[in-house]
Amino acid sequence: MNFQLSDAQAMIQQTARDFSKKQVQPKAAELDESGRFPHEIVKEMAGLGFLGMMVPEQWGGAGLDTVSYVLAMEEISRGCASTGVIMSVNNSLVCDPLMKFGNDDQKKRFLTPLAQGDLLGCFCLSEPGTGSDAASQTTTAKKSDKGYVLNGTKNWITNGKEANVAIVFAMTDKAAGHKGIAAFVVDTKSAGFSVAKLEKKLGIKASSTAQIHLDNVEVPAANMLGGEKDGFKVAMTTLDGGRIGIASQALGIARAALEDAKDYAKERKTFGTPVSEKQAIQFMFADIATELEAARLLTLRAAMMKDAGAKFSREAAMAKLYASEMAMRSTVKALQIFGGYGYVTDYPAERHMRDAKITEIYEGTSEIQRIVIAQSLLKEGLSL
Ligand code: CAA
Repeated sequence: MNFQLSDAQAMIQQTARDFSKKQVQPKAAELDESGRFPHEIVKEMAGLGFLGMMVPEQWGGAGLDTVSYVLAMEEISRGCASTGVIMSVNNSLVCDPLMKFGNDDQKKRFLTPLAQGDLLGCFCLSEPGTGSDAASQTTTAKKSDKGYVLNGTKNWITNGKEANVAIVFAMTDKAAGHKGIAAFVVDTKSAGFSVAKLEKKLGIKASSTAQIHLDNVEVPAANMLGGEKDGFKVAMTTLDGGRIGIASQALGIARAALEDAKDYAKERKTFGTPVSEKQAIQFMFADIATELEAARLLTLRAAMMKDAGAKFSREAAMAKLYASEMAMRSTVKALQIFGGYGYVTDYPAERHMRDAKITEIYEGTSEIQRIVIAQSLLKEGLSL
């Protein structure tokens, strides 16, 4: 496998790095403190083509590959993890299924404005009682004269407050289990679509996490994504790609923790010398850097397999599992390097640790990733 970046990929990485350093990172502490959605950054990212990175130019996107997306996601998340997830959801969980399962009419109406940043998207799968067990959801879609009528409650919806478009999963046939789920593209201004609650969170505070109520929401039949029985497949294939995005977010958070701790350790003196010269601290840096590289390789491999059109569910799960747990371990170590200063908000170490935790939970918990990996291993064997 060749991990040499092409000129185009290196250019995207550099563009994202410069933008993140100048426009995103300086605002991260304020965004965390205020919980303000970074509308101005999202607008600038749209201008750079970062909201529809893998969408073909024909549909208004940047026409780039998943590797480029991963590189940009790491840079944006290095600056601000909240901004990273806003970007990830629009690209991976909304544009991707529209690209893969949408017809030309749906692409024209939804994909193009989403890719250009004229609309923002969210992904409504989880419910108050069903997160990991996505097939057991209870939201219903009943056929009507005009199309379908949706009823139910969706939970943990990133971008839920700001989104103009929602991909909503609902049961068309409860008795059929996962084969009775359909996916719909829903205009969030539809009557009966409402934000019932905004969650107060440990981290990624500048991204909204909403509970959505669907109260007799009428959706035209032309807004069904795929067929009446295809919803679970749409959700699962979409999440495969989403997990690569979250793995990249975790890389960005861990890198932020490492770089900030490195700067601090070179300045901070104890017993007459900078703490960076103490072997105990150097070992922590060595562990964080090594694990970060390993996680990046897993993430790039999953991205390359997606670009090659290969099946990549297992590789995406491995990348997300390892990168998110690496980010948690690394941010805890980085905070320790700051000592007492790591525990207070004067430095960003505590924010990185709070932001890292969610990567082990959303788009499939670490436990779900282990299930996906183990089941694939038992069915298909090792990939050598
Ligand atoms: N791609 C395509 N099809 C898939 C698939 C995949 N990756 N995984 C499963 N399927 C198919 C199977 O082939 C099977 O199809 P058939 O019946 O036709 O054979 C069908 O789906 C059912 O498969 P399983 O029996 O394996 O399904 P399951 O009910 O046991 O669930 C699971 C499997 C992996 C646990 C799945 O439920 C899962 O991924 N759960 C986690 C959900 C999740 O990640 N939620 C996060 C929500 S998004 C979010 O976090 C919010 C946000 O805004 C960021």
